[in-house]
Amino acid sequence: MMKTAVVTGASSGMGREFVRQLALKYSWLDEIWVIARRAGELEKLKEEIREVSVRPLPLDISREEDLGKLKTILGKEKPRILFLVNAAGMGIQKEFARTSLEDILMMTKLNCTALTGITRICLPYCPEGSRIFMLASAAAFVPQPGFGVYAASKAYVVSFSRALNRELKNRRIQVTAVCPGPVDTPFLEKMGGKDRMPAYKKPFIASPRQVVRKALRDGARGRELSVPGIFIKCLKAGCKLLPHSLILKLMEEKSDS
Ligand SMILES: NC(=O)c1ccc[n+]([C@@H]2O[C@H](COP(=O)([O-])OP(=O)(O)OC[C@H]3O[C@@H](n4cnc5c(N)ncnc54)[C@H](OP(=O)(O)O)[C@@H]3O)[C@@H](O)[C@H]2O)c1
Repeated sequence: MMKTAVVTGASSGMGREFVRQLALKYSWLDEIWVIARRAGELEKLKEEIREVSVRPLPLDISREEDLGKLKTILGKEKPRILFLVNAAGMGIQKEFARTSLEDILMMTKLNCTALTGITRICLPYCPEGSRIFMLASAAAFVPQPGFGVYAASKAYVVSFSRALNRELKNRRIQVTAVCPGPVDTPFLEKMGGKDRMPAYKKPFIASPRQVVRKALRDGARGRELSVPGIFIKCLKAGCKLLPHSLILKLMEEKSDS
């Protein structure tokens, strides 16, 4: 049976980087199925990757109909999904009351509903030993005024991933939630660019290559969380130790300074 990886959000940023690194590291894969809306970008990726055959699946995974299409293809081909990467996601950094209903619903649909749906659809094809990567964020560690729905959606991803990891222990399937701070991808530009970012975050912008390399290593080591960089690790520890009200106050002061 076909040894396959399925990657969502593959047309850009970390999803695309996962495809590149999976192809290099696991060149014995038969196919990598790449999912995103922009077919042209997926075709470019197919041209670029030499080690493994890439199959573009241009789908809008916020639509139930498109999730159905993936389910049908899987039902026909019955691949063995050895890697599933849920990287599709979006962020809107704006006060809740000033964000449109459409944007809020799209963000929760993509970051939570689609990620959960894709996982449910792919899981029957994941054999023992397979690995699932969920792109969460360091934003999951503490509530973020001005970025509240996004941070909450990522807290959902972490909570869901950790529970699923436990549930799937007996099938020896590893689920890893990836929790980076800011990463240099088009995602940052869509949120208004690095200039709009609070100054204290700028020195900690990671490259997609670093984040993905660490995630693949952490998945192979059986870790349920992948937290890249010492600053984000300290942030995670701080968010556990300190009252969130204090952290929120510190964040406000740092943003103003
Ligand atoms: N960059 C950061 O600073 C950062 C930090 C922490 C966590 N994250 C998380 O990491 C993940 C990847 O982010 P990134 O930085 O790589 O962002 P990105 O470069 O903006 O990529 C987002 C991907 O999601 C796809 N996508 C968006 N809407 C879709 C839809 N309706 N259906 C199918 N695919 C869709 C996009 O493809 P199309 O436009 O072609 O559909 C694109 O491939 C996200 O979940 C994000 O929340 C990012």
